[in-house]
Amino acid sequence: MAKFSHDAFIAPTAEQYVSRAEILGAFSYALDITQGQPVGHCISACWIGCQIGLELGLSGDDFADLYYTVLLKDVGCSSNAARICELYRTDDHEFKHDFKFVTGDKRDVLKFALKTVGKNSGWLTRMRAIASVLRNGDDYAREVMDTRCTRGADIAKRLRFSDAVAEGIRGLDEHWDGSGLPLASSGADIPLYSRIALLAQVAEIFYRNAGADAALAEVAAQSGRWFDPAIVRAFQNAQAKPGFWECVGAPGLEPLLFSLAPAMTADLVDEDYLDDIAAAFGEVVDAKSPYTSGHSGRVADYAARIAEAIDYPVEKRRWLVRGALLHDIGKLGVSNAILDKPAKLDDDEWQVMRGHAAHTQEILGRISAFEDMAPISAAHHERLDGKGYPHGLGASAISLETRIITTCDFYDALTADRPYRAAMSPERALAIMAEEVGKAIDARCFAALAQVVAAQQTPTA
Ligand SMILES: [Fe+2]
Ligand SMILES: [Fe+2]
Repeated sequence: MAKFSHDAFIAPTAEQYVSRAEILGAFSYALDITQGQPVGHCISACWIGCQIGLELGLSGDDFADLYYTVLLKDVGCSSNAARICELYRTDDHEFKHDFKFVTGDKRDVLKFALKTVGKNSGWLTRMRAIASVLRNGDDYAREVMDTRCTRGADIAKRLRFSDAVAEGIRGLDEHWDGSGLPLASSGADIPLYSRIALLAQVAEIFYRNAGADAALAEVAAQSGRWFDPAIVRAFQNAQAKPGFWECVGAPGLEPLLFSLAPAMTADLVDEDYLDDIAAAFGEVVDAKSPYTSGHSGRVADYAARIAEAIDYPVEKRRWLVRGALLHDIGKLGVSNAILDKPAKLDDDEWQVMRGHAAHTQEILGRISAFEDMAPISAAHHERLDGKGYPHGLGASAISLETRIITTCDFYDALTADRPYRAAMSPERALAIMAEEVGKAIDARCFAALAQVVAAQQTPTA
C-alpha cells in the first residue's frame, strides 16, 4: 500500500471543473440507489424526457429546465425513506422499487400491499401493518409523496435552479386525471415538466424490465389517466425514431446526454457552486434517517474548525469541507430498515452497513471534480491500528484529511441520538474518544477537537 500524506492532494482549480450536467448526472446515480433502481435510471429517464421535449419543440431555457427536472426528479427521495419503513414496516428500497409498478387499479394496490407491507416482520405485526395500510393507505401515500416532492423542490432551489425546475420536481407524482399525489392536481394545472418526467420515468422502468413493447403498452394504457395524451403522442413519435431505444441504458448514453444543448450551454461549475452541490447532497444524505439529521453538516462544521485549529492550508479547506459533507453519501445505498434498526445489527446487516464506505467511493469516484476526494471521504471508518473498514488500511495509508473527518464523525456519532442509545454529553464523548487516540483517532486531530468543543462551551461575552 502506497504511503501518502495530505500534501499529496492538491485542491483542484476552477479550470479543471466540468459542467453542471456532468456533476449532477454523476450524483443521479446516488439517487438511483436510494430509489431502489438500477444505476443509470435517472440518466435514461432524462434521455427519454429530452426526446419528448424535442418533439414538443422545446428549446433554450425551457429545454434546459426540462433536462434538469428529469435528471433530478428523485432528489427529494431520501426524505421519506425512514417514514416508509415506519408506516409500511418494510425495506424502503424494495418498497420504492416495487411501487413503481403499481397502477391505479385497486387489485394492483392490494397485491402490492400483501406482497410488500410488513414483509420482514412477524405474522401479527404484518397483519396489523397491512390492515393499517388498507385503512389509511391514501393518507400514508399522500404524506410520503408530499415529503419527497417538497424536499425535492427545496433542494432544486438550493442548487440554484429556476422555479420551473423546482415546480417540475414538486409535481412529479401528479396524474393527468387528478388521481396523483400529493395535490391531486389535474390536466394543465400540472407543470409541463412534471408531466414529461413522470412518463419518462415509467417508460424507462417498463422498458428495462420488459422491453419496448411493454413500455409502449403501459404508456398507451395510462394515456388520459396518469399521462397527458399530447405528451403520450410526442413520446410515441419520439420512440419511433431510429436509435431511440438503443440509447436507453446503453453505456454510451452518458456522453450523449452531456452533449445535448442544456449541458453544453450551462455555465461551468465554479468553487462556490461546488460548495452548494456538496451541501445540497449532504442534506440529501442527512434527510435519509432521523438519526443522522444534520450529521453531515455538523461533521463538515467540526472539520472546518479543526482545520483552522491545526493550521491546515487555507486554500484546501473548502475542499476538505466538501469531503466531510459527502463522507456518508454511500448511506443512500443502505436501507432504513438497517440504518434505523433499534437493535444490534446481525452479520448480514452489518455487512450492508459497512458497505456504505465503498458506496461513497463509487459515487464520488464518478465525479471528476470530486474523484480525488473520494478515497479520503470513503476511508472515514478506517482506523490507525488497521482494524477499520472497508480496506483495513494502516496508519501510514490514512491521510490527514481522513483523520480529520474520522475524528469529527466519531464525535458527532457519540453526541447524537442513535436508534439503540441516547446522545452522550460532550465530556463523555471526549472521554470515550481519548481511549481511542492512536488506535482509531489521530492525536493531533483529537487535541484540536477538544479545543473546538471547549470553545463551543465557553459562553461568549
Ligand atoms: Fe460513515
Ligand atoms: Fe458519518
